[in-house]
Amino acid sequence: MSRSPFNLNLNPYVTKVQQHSDIIRTHLTDGSPDTAGLINLSRPIIVDLGCGAGNFLRDYALSAPEIDFFGFELRYKRLVKGALKFKKHHLANVRLIQARAENIALWFPPASIREVYINFPDPWPKKRHLKHRLITTDFLVRLRGLLEEKGQFVFKTDHRDYFDLAKTLIDECGVFDVIGYTEDLHNSPLDEQNIPTEFELLFKSKGYPVYYIKTKVR
Ligand SMILES: C[S@@+](CC[C@H](N)C(=O)[O-])C[C@H]1O[C@@H](n2cnc3c(N)ncnc32)[C@H](O)[C@@H]1O
Repeated sequence: MSRSPFNLNLNPYVTKVQQHSDIIRTHLTDGSPDTAGLINLSRPIIVDLGCGAGNFLRDYALSAPEIDFFGFELRYKRLVKGALKFKKHHLANVRLIQARAENIALWFPPASIREVYINFPDPWPKKRHLKHRLITTDFLVRLRGLLEEKGQFVFKTDHRDYFDLAKTLIDECGVFDVIGYTEDLHNSPLDEQNIPTEFELLFKSKGYPVYYIKTKVR
């Protein structure tokens, strides 16, 4: 690799993402992405927004080969780690999309997705950063439009304030019914169906409660 001082490609994972282009599709602008060959509308679709290094997708996809899984993630290293996991398990039903989760509607047609998961999104706790939070009324309404008639949206977080806000927005937006709710997932019967994520296991090991809400389209 060139060590020229003019080589601005400092993150080695940029090249590694390109080496996994069979799994990872990159589109970091707000224009229309190339979705050719990516989405098969004859199969069910499940989407994980902000999927990190892909543990949740790996475990879910292993249990459901008849479903196609898509993870949105921005960070190069996490995408590469995810791709390596899927390859290790010979998973042909998972793809990663390096794009902003906010732009999900550029990738999927209306009423095409069975389930959307947002697991431990960045909480943006500072007041001046609240505008960066993924879950807004606008976003929820857009999500509802992408979900199938019986589609579900599930949200998990360790962040009480973000959880309360999301619950309020879900109630107010009027497009989802809550079908599962707990303020302590790991001590709830809902944990039996739960697939833990990387961040979730970290918070669990520290004894933090996990807040969980499951909804279906109204
Ligand atoms: C706190 S981590 C949680 C990762 C994983 N869901 C988990 O539970 O272990 C949040 C992830 O969302 C990604 N992320 C943040 N903003 C995003 C956005 N606008 N679009 C897609 N991914 C995003 C981050 O890079 C990070 O990997």
